[in-house]
Amino acid sequence: MDDVRKVEPAGRVFRTGVKVPGDKSLSHRSLVFASLADADSEITGLAPGQDVASTATALGRLGMQRSGDRFSPPRRLEEPDGPIDCGNSGTAMRLLSGSLAGAPFRITLTGDDSLRSRPMNRLVAPLGALGVEITTETNGTAPITTGNGSLHGADVRIDVASAQVRTAFELAAIQADGLSTIDSPAGYRDHTERWLEAFGLGTVGEGTKMLISPGRIPGARYDIPGDPSSAAYLWASAALMDGAHVVTPGISLNPGRLGFLTILEAMGATIHGEVTGSIHGDVVGTVAVTGGELQAVEVFGDTVAAAIDELPLVAVLAAYADGTTVVREASELRAKESDRIASTTAMIRALGGGAEPTEDGFAVIGTGFLDGGTVNSSGDHRIAMAAAVAATAAGGPVIVLGASAANVSWPSFYETLEAVWSSQ
Ligand code: S3P
Repeated sequence: MDDVRKVEPAGRVFRTGVKVPGDKSLSHRSLVFASLADADSEITGLAPGQDVASTATALGRLGMQRSGDRFSPPRRLEEPDGPIDCGNSGTAMRLLSGSLAGAPFRITLTGDDSLRSRPMNRLVAPLGALGVEITTETNGTAPITTGNGSLHGADVRIDVASAQVRTAFELAAIQADGLSTIDSPAGYRDHTERWLEAFGLGTVGEGTKMLISPGRIPGARYDIPGDPSSAAYLWASAALMDGAHVVTPGISLNPGRLGFLTILEAMGATIHGEVTGSIHGDVVGTVAVTGGELQAVEVFGDTVAAAIDELPLVAVLAAYADGTTVVREASELRAKESDRIASTTAMIRALGGGAEPTEDGFAVIGTGFLDGGTVNSSGDHRIAMAAAVAATAAGGPVIVLGASAANVSWPSFYETLEAVWSSQ
């Protein structure tokens, strides 16, 4: 088999600093904001993986021009001659379903097998309230069709803490002819809300409610900070080895992205965070993690949404911890690039650990040790990378099948991880 990566245990206590790739959530948003803007925008530090390329390519097909870091919005949206392929990216599909709601024609969005199995029906009611019909397959999946909406203000509440659905709604709502509001459970990343507020297009009200005022996004400069969901692999690796230390400067510190650091600290790693700046009201800073003895934790409530992409890593840490870690109220894990309740517990078991899936999460029995072994990524980048991190302190190598899944968010991930391990 070709698509295999053998990851040998780290073998020594490492200490290093790493600049991780640009944040994926902010990269998608900056491109979509630039496509809706009333003038050119400049974007530096875009995330390198296939997911963000899907959004850039889609917007290029609709008439957005790129010259280096400069992005010119389409003068008039160009009607694509067929469905737009969002690849593996749920963020691309959901953000575009909202940003294109006001297009003067219908547009079909599709994706790979994984994306075409994920729930898109959650877009139908909120975007429908604004006046655009989103059609899905009968089971609520992609291909979906958006556009040609006659958009008016609406007040909606959604029952999942989904930043993607909130963003889709908000990007359609700025094109409507009246004020809108959206509310949801807490814990979501509020990047879009902060940027819209910075541009005078909305107000973050009490708690989780956002008021959206119609208007045009201005041309702007976006220097995309590092991705905390990528840095998390290096933080976790440091946490697995007593005395190991990793510093990551220039990371997005949006509160909806900090759940993993909260968990890591509760498990016993030492965390130092420092705010160094911001991008249109969204906080950026440096994070340093030092490894120590790990204890089991319980993860539930708002922390679940704020750590949603890092929960496979929590399972890896839990296997090396003392006690049984329980993650609950996390059924959203089933709606990700794979069913991450199934793929995460399968990963821990394949490495010689103890893990049980539950209805809305999983339990991992910490033995303080993993043997190593062969893990199937299930085509999911976060499982592939979490499995590689599990090798840090394992008894033997970890073999990742379907290792190239990492390319959707971090193409040079394995090389970076191994370079970190060889630093002193
Ligand atoms: C994202 C939101 C989260 C997250 C995804 C990126 C975003 O998804 O899991 O990787 O950029 O808004 P949900 O909105 O479905 O929770």
